Amino acid sequence: MSHYKELKKVTTNSLIEMKEAGVKISMLTAYDYTFALIVDGAGIDVILVGDSASNVMAGHVSTLPITLDQMIYHAQSVVRATNRALVVCDLPFGSYQGNSKNALESSIRIMKEAEAHAIKLEGGEEVVESVKRILTAGIPVMGHLGLTPQSIFKFGTYNVRAKEEKEAEKLLHDAELLEEAGCFALVLEKIPAKLAEQVAKNLKIPVIGIGAGGGVDGQVLVLHDMLGMTKEFNPRFLRRYLNLHDEITNAVGKYIDDVKSKDFPNASEQY
Ligand code: KIV
Repeated sequence: MSHYKELKKVTTNSLIEMKEAGVKISMLTAYDYTFALIVDGAGIDVILVGDSASNVMAGHVSTLPITLDQMIYHAQSVVRATNRALVVCDLPFGSYQGNSKNALESSIRIMKEAEAHAIKLEGGEEVVESVKRILTAGIPVMGHLGLTPQSIFKFGTYNVRAKEEKEAEKLLHDAELLEEAGCFALVLEKIPAKLAEQVAKNLKIPVIGIGAGGGVDGQVLVLHDMLGMTKEFNPRFLRRYLNLHDEITNAVGKYIDDVKSKDFPNASEQY
């Protein structure tokens, strides 16, 4: 359980306090009411309504197809379930890139219609103007650097990012720009652990890693991956805490057998 479970509500300020106190931040994705209720009740610090919903919930091969309306629907369900965690919602692909007015409008829709607590967007220097503009409306912004899945067709692969010096230097610079612009936290995805640790040391804001080693201020995983519901996705950084894929398959198989054999329902399971 989180050391901060006694906190009534997690805020952007409490995350900064956790970094200062050396308490690691826990973050998981959720996209629906039932899972969000469980994750929040377990004491998670941050729930990310990630655009990974595009893969996990809708079965797309990338995060690009999910729409702003769909993200708002997911965020509404999560917010309804959440008492304590800070709820951060991703700005989906096409709702902010290259247009800070659009970025502000999309963020306002998320805050107003879903009542999320903050938004997350991907990118460095190229989104700084948007970060500043979103902040003018008082909306907290989380950054996301390293492997940024909305740019997968530019990268071409889901391999580790910023292994080369030039890309590592750009990432360090982008991280500083995002902090200066006013981001309250930063996600670093799939980059070398040493580089991630350096970013976390350079910045005052918390750095939350996924595949970025233990030298950062917190960790995030996709809930369905860490619960072992997804089978095909096996990156080195993923620790599975359950094997729900097999558990659910067995339970469903047992139910089918019970129906076919007329074992279910029995005398006490009817009116
Ligand atoms: O969409 C998502 O789930 C994310 C996490 C992988 C950080 O952005």
